[in-house]
Amino acid sequence: MTDAGWIQPGSRVYIAGGYGMVGSALYRLLSEQCGATVIRHRRQEIDLTDPRAVDACLSSQSIDVMIVAAATVGGILANNTRPAEFIQNNLMIAANLIDGSYRHGIDKLLYLGSSCIYPKHAEQPMVEEALLTGHLEPTNEPYAVSKIAGIKLCESYNRQFGMDCRCAMPTNLYGQGDNYDLKGSHVIPALMRRFHDAVQQRLPEVVVWGSGQVRREFLLVDDLANGCLALMQASSNAINALTSEQCRHLNIGSGVDVTIAELAALVAETVGFKGQIQYDSSKPDGAPRKLLDISKIRSLGWSPVHSLRDGLAATYQDYLAHPDSARGVA
Ligand SMILES: NC(=O)c1ccc[n+]([C@@H]2O[C@H](COP(=O)([O-])OP(=O)(O)OC[C@H]3O[C@@H](n4cnc5c(N)ncnc54)[C@H](OP(=O)(O)O)[C@@H]3O)[C@@H](O)[C@H]2O)c1
Repeated sequence: MTDAGWIQPGSRVYIAGGYGMVGSALYRLLSEQCGATVIRHRRQEIDLTDPRAVDACLSSQSIDVMIVAAATVGGILANNTRPAEFIQNNLMIAANLIDGSYRHGIDKLLYLGSSCIYPKHAEQPMVEEALLTGHLEPTNEPYAVSKIAGIKLCESYNRQFGMDCRCAMPTNLYGQGDNYDLKGSHVIPALMRRFHDAVQQRLPEVVVWGSGQVRREFLLVDDLANGCLALMQASSNAINALTSEQCRHLNIGSGVDVTIAELAALVAETVGFKGQIQYDSSKPDGAPRKLLDISKIRSLGWSPVHSLRDGLAATYQDYLAHPDSARGVA
């Protein structure tokens, strides 16, 4: 393992899922600000669930760093209605890319997991060591299990083959390039689109799923990209001091949470919706609270810089400026 940062000007970085929300933020940071040569493909060019396609891709490129930011991702509705897709696609993507990287001599790999890996009733804020200490939230259990498998693949390839796989566990993300399709979107793009449409259509009321009382943490995707960079630039010694062979992942969050009702009020204000907000408590809420302990990633010198209010304003401006590139809106 090397103690120099992974990303240098001219480093060749492959971002799997490089056109997604996280992949695009990493692309902007690594290629435009760090001077790395970033390679990415669309799903139509390479299906990452196909091991032969992944193999052919990796053998034709000379890659220094692999970033696994491809996944089937979505909110409660998508997780509830497409559980087989969530577990199968994400297991295949993780296995193909981690094993493919090993076989093609790429020993530096960053794997993106998710805060849903932690038990539903984990003590708050959730520390990295809470992994596998209790039952998962049932609504997204298949997705969470695939993400835990990805972490365990990373740890196992590190132990058996001496790879340097590092795992980032982001909290709920939002920002430029999010998915605004109401059948698949997360809570912030879903609220933003519904309040925006309500303003356009002069609707007096918007109904929000759930009680509004559960607490969630949100991070702007550009802050996450900088957190991932801190993780990739940290020395092996620094990573080893913070992690163990069996617990190699680091949380990345904002460190603050809000109720869904507080979030909805903030999104309504951002969008200019002045009508009533009703809550449909017959719809599932998910875990009562999800807040990450971010002291480990903070100790590497990273901190989030955008408040939720500022991040929402920037995201809405981007939505208005690029309605055609906001996925799910067309
Ligand atoms: N968004 C969040 O709130 C959040 C929170 C925590 C962790 N994460 C993690 O961060 C990572 C990136 O998430 P994201 O929000 O950026 O999701 P995203 O915007 O949906 O991006 C995922 C990307 O992966 C691609 N992809 C999916 N299956 C593929 C396949 N079989 N072959 C090739 N490409 C494929 C998608 O392509 P298509 O668009 O063509 O399907 C998309 O470009 C994921 O691992 C996710 O679990 C996200």
